[in-house]
Amino acid sequence: MTSTSAAAIIAARIEAAVARLHPGETGGLDTVARPSEHADAQVNVALALAKRLGKNPREVAEQIARSVEVVGVCRSVEVAGPGFLNITFDDAFLGEKLREMASGESLGLRQAAVTETVVVDYSAPNVAKEMHVGHLRSTIIGDALVRMLTAVGHRVVRENHIGDWGTPFGMLIEHLVDLGEAGASRELSVGDLDAFYKEARKKFDASEQFQDRARKRVVALQAGDADTLRLWNLLVAESARYFAQVYEKLDVLLKHSDLRGESTYNHLLAAVVERLRAAGLLQQDDEAEVVFPPGFTNRENQPLPLIIRKKDGGYNYATSDLACVIDRVENIGATLLVYVVGAPQAQHLAMVESVAASAGWLKPPARMEHVAFGSVLGSDRKMLRSRSGDAVKLVELLDEAVQRAEASIREKNPELDPAVRSVVAHQIGIGAVKYSDLSNDRVKDYVFDWERMLSFDGNTAPYLQYAHARICSIFRKAGEKRSAVRDVRPLVAHQAERALALSLLQFDTVVHDAIDRFSPHRLCTYLYELSSRYTAFYEHCPVLKADGDVRQSRLALCDLTARVLEHGLGMLGIGAPEQM
Ligand code: ARG
Repeated sequence: MTSTSAAAIIAARIEAAVARLHPGETGGLDTVARPSEHADAQVNVALALAKRLGKNPREVAEQIARSVEVVGVCRSVEVAGPGFLNITFDDAFLGEKLREMASGESLGLRQAAVTETVVVDYSAPNVAKEMHVGHLRSTIIGDALVRMLTAVGHRVVRENHIGDWGTPFGMLIEHLVDLGEAGASRELSVGDLDAFYKEARKKFDASEQFQDRARKRVVALQAGDADTLRLWNLLVAESARYFAQVYEKLDVLLKHSDLRGESTYNHLLAAVVERLRAAGLLQQDDEAEVVFPPGFTNRENQPLPLIIRKKDGGYNYATSDLACVIDRVENIGATLLVYVVGAPQAQHLAMVESVAASAGWLKPPARMEHVAFGSVLGSDRKMLRSRSGDAVKLVELLDEAVQRAEASIREKNPELDPAVRSVVAHQIGIGAVKYSDLSNDRVKDYVFDWERMLSFDGNTAPYLQYAHARICSIFRKAGEKRSAVRDVRPLVAHQAERALALSLLQFDTVVHDAIDRFSPHRLCTYLYELSSRYTAFYEHCPVLKADGDVRQSRLALCDLTARVLEHGLGMLGIGAPEQM
């Protein structure tokens, strides 16, 4: 069952008033009712309309305010400032909208108007290398987007484009041969990927003989030599096992079956070259085969090539990304290709997009979206490093998060059953890491700060989780079943109830806005505001001490708040414990 949102009802009433007053003028007008500090909502239609009509905006607004049909919807429509329409909803109308919202599983969240097949390319660490915090960001943001897109009905395909191909594999395989397969497996299985990589690199830099072996190995790998492929597979499998550990700790949806490493596209690379040539896009540049997408230049203002095939005949990172576009559009049938990749790769992806579009592989409605993100900084505001100065090991970081959360709830709630405590510690610790990432505008850098992210105050996961747990505890004390209050129409009387009600009714708009902008932090900001309003409501409006209808009404508000928090946190990949 879908119900019409309060905002949509207001928009329709205002449009009807405009149509009566100024026939033929409703087209292209913004009648959206936005949240406002001065009223329940504000509509800005009069300013644009007055401009169009060449009239005084306040007068145009006054006319609309007098004409708009408000019965059963608004208590008042008042003109403010230069011609804003300040809306105050009818209490019973808000109550009814809340009841409608509570009556369905979706909590009023609309399905997308057009259902699309969306490929989300995220995480994408490199084989035989430690996953760094950039991959952590990609994993967390990508997973939240997958969950949000899925929640509004899109068909979402997860792809983990791991770096599993290219010249470094020559040296990595030769190092593996030196260590012996068993020894190499042992080293890799403890997750010491960086050490393995560094040792290989060191040998490569020190010995010409080793370089020679590495080069020959790359040739054998590309020629599909069976034994070389077997050794390569070993490297990939050990790394994938390590990545899977991180994904499991992180509670993300990525599975083994989502792996689509660069090597997946090998069989398409020759076709990429042929199709670019046939399209007349391929050029020779310093013996390499390249495409010059229009508008890309280097610092000297010379045209910048996208290298498709190198001098030595080898293919490039860009070539597999182009093959990837073909696969996603032509084989998977995707219309939206989302790349959750750090900001430094913006130019690479823009060039791939431009070439794919010129070649006719990316025709509207199919499109690419680079969901870029900034860096994670340490308290010194430099790139986050471990104490030894190396890349931070993600498994250790996540374990530390859970340990810290455990210590904190042990102190705050010593009575909690130990088995429950360990589950909750995981939800809080991992939730804190995810939320501290997601709650920042992703394009900005952010400072990784244990104290702040695990604090029970402020815009943090524990604060939201605590609001949820507190509501669960109210119901335990009340001896009421949560589902029993779902057909109650809440009374929206107290100012704090009203603020909470308006926030609850924003859920659908906010989620769609966060999806449209690929910005999970908008959902975070909303959930934080909702929790703050809930806290104020809880202080001013006693629930368990109230009687009769008031008690039922307030329980209904509590239940709906908890459901929005749980659903909202769920879309961010964060658990909502019932006690903590
Ligand atoms: N493996 C790459 C890296 O670590 C990221 C790959 C992103 N995805 C893509 N389709 N290029 O930088």
